[in-house]
Amino acid sequence: MLNLWYKNAVIYCVDVETFMDSNGDGIGDFAGLADRLDHVEALGATCIWLLPFYPTPNRDNGYDITDFYAVDPRLGTLGDFVAFTHAAHDRGLRVIVDLVANHTSIDHPWFQEARRDPNSRYRDWYVWSKEKPKDIHEGAVFPGVQDATWTYDEAAQAWYMHRFYKHQADLNIANPEVREELEKVMGFWLQLGVSGFRLDAVPFLIEYRGVPEEERPKDDPHLYLNELRSFVSWRRAEAMLLAEANITMDQVNEYFGPSGDRLHMIFNFMLNQHLFLSLARKDAEPIRRVMAQTPAIPLKSQWASFLRNHDEIDLGRLPDAERGEVFSAFGPAPEMQAYGRGIRRRLAPMLGGDEQRLKQAFSLMFALPGTPVLWYGDEIGMGDDLSLAERNSVRTPMQWADERNAGFSTAPSEQLVRPVVSGGAFDYRSVNVVAQHDLDGSLMSTLQRLIRTRRACPEIGWGRCRVLETSETSVLALRYDWHGETVLIVHNLADHAVEVQVSLDEVSRLRPLFCDEDDRTMRDASEPIHLSPYGYRWFRAHGERR
Ligand code: GLC
Ligand code: CA
Repeated sequence: MLNLWYKNAVIYCVDVETFMDSNGDGIGDFAGLADRLDHVEALGATCIWLLPFYPTPNRDNGYDITDFYAVDPRLGTLGDFVAFTHAAHDRGLRVIVDLVANHTSIDHPWFQEARRDPNSRYRDWYVWSKEKPKDIHEGAVFPGVQDATWTYDEAAQAWYMHRFYKHQADLNIANPEVREELEKVMGFWLQLGVSGFRLDAVPFLIEYRGVPEEERPKDDPHLYLNELRSFVSWRRAEAMLLAEANITMDQVNEYFGPSGDRLHMIFNFMLNQHLFLSLARKDAEPIRRVMAQTPAIPLKSQWASFLRNHDEIDLGRLPDAERGEVFSAFGPAPEMQAYGRGIRRRLAPMLGGDEQRLKQAFSLMFALPGTPVLWYGDEIGMGDDLSLAERNSVRTPMQWADERNAGFSTAPSEQLVRPVVSGGAFDYRSVNVVAQHDLDGSLMSTLQRLIRTRRACPEIGWGRCRVLETSETSVLALRYDWHGETVLIVHNLADHAVEVQVSLDEVSRLRPLFCDEDDRTMRDASEPIHLSPYGYRWFRAHGERR
């Protein structure tokens, strides 16, 4: 059997800067993270995804890089990085790192040299135009904050292209030298022990926007993904590429590749948006709809499921009316929204801090086809800080304990990289790791049980998924079959109790695995299933042949 570790992993995303500060300067660092691996291990995650930790002027939370081969000195040294990776491996945790290949900071020496000297070898590493481009306002990613995608540079006497902020100049991926350099970057981190990359902004990476027609490679741009895949696989067999690609279902197989030989994993943005629509409506129809539209994917490919991440929830793929429904349920005030399309809140405040709903949301995400990805702090139901700009609202320091600065740092509070959430329902004095540790029924311990259950159900990562009919539209009933084993998972999204009958061929008995109520008794598969408001039940099926 193929050992594809990412098919049955649980990925935990960390921003080093806000996780744990070891030396009291108010900034999280690698030594602090290494010290808190206990928490990640106890949770049951199997892989850590690090947000960018490279040298940066930090105008976009580290996604604006000035050196791809180093560690931001505020966070530690390369030595600290290796010590951390080693400690993670010691606990059986893999590490993947963010790779921002689409652009560099304009402070990067490559861009500095490119703008200064038209004959520099770095000039063609970026995308320039002598004339003012016509499409200067087209395709902006952060409307309202950054409205142009080309900016005039005095030193270069030319316009440079940037899909994101104007301080992030796009690399010219049509240039073979750039491709070679990016491979070197990947080779470097693979050699230091990482198990793969979260690839930033893939749809933009593989477009040749702004590159003159005659300089564009003539073949299908998706073939660049084959190139990246084959490079990493030859360097390290287990290397995995996880793509940030907010694409539509008809593009999916171009990204996974016809035989699964491009990206290993893709974040399921479509599912994410419909999941929030389902939660808002208390109806499973939007999830069933998107699942029906999801194409079959190759064996070696895998979806990454998520609820929240370090960005806003992007609802841009929902029609206006549906986006409006999600806004009014989960982000009605203008300051809760971002870029006209998203919500910049954490999960817990969106769900009004309702523990049953929070547990259900996690259970649902873990039950969907794919590999779950968690955003640090969501496991304890951390809140957000809407006074911070843009997406920084959801990037406040980890709340470890009811101690000064939530146990994140011993620095004076005003020195912290970002303020700790204090006051209100999500105050660090009530929402923290210590308070939930070993406490039966806490969000964190429920999540621990959920993670253990999910890891014991490889059917979800590998198997065939079917959406079963039930009489209740609020209920999502999923059946997974793999290697003669069957798992049944039911969720009731409604705020009232329901009873459903699901028909299960070849199954006579159901054994509870994970439920919102204490239920351990084996039951007859033909009995109706009772679900409390926002209830959930996971079963393993037993039949004559099972
Ligand atoms: C990705 C990141 C986001 C960042 C952007 C530009 O979308 O998730 O945080 O701002 O890329 O690098
Ligand atoms: Ca520090």
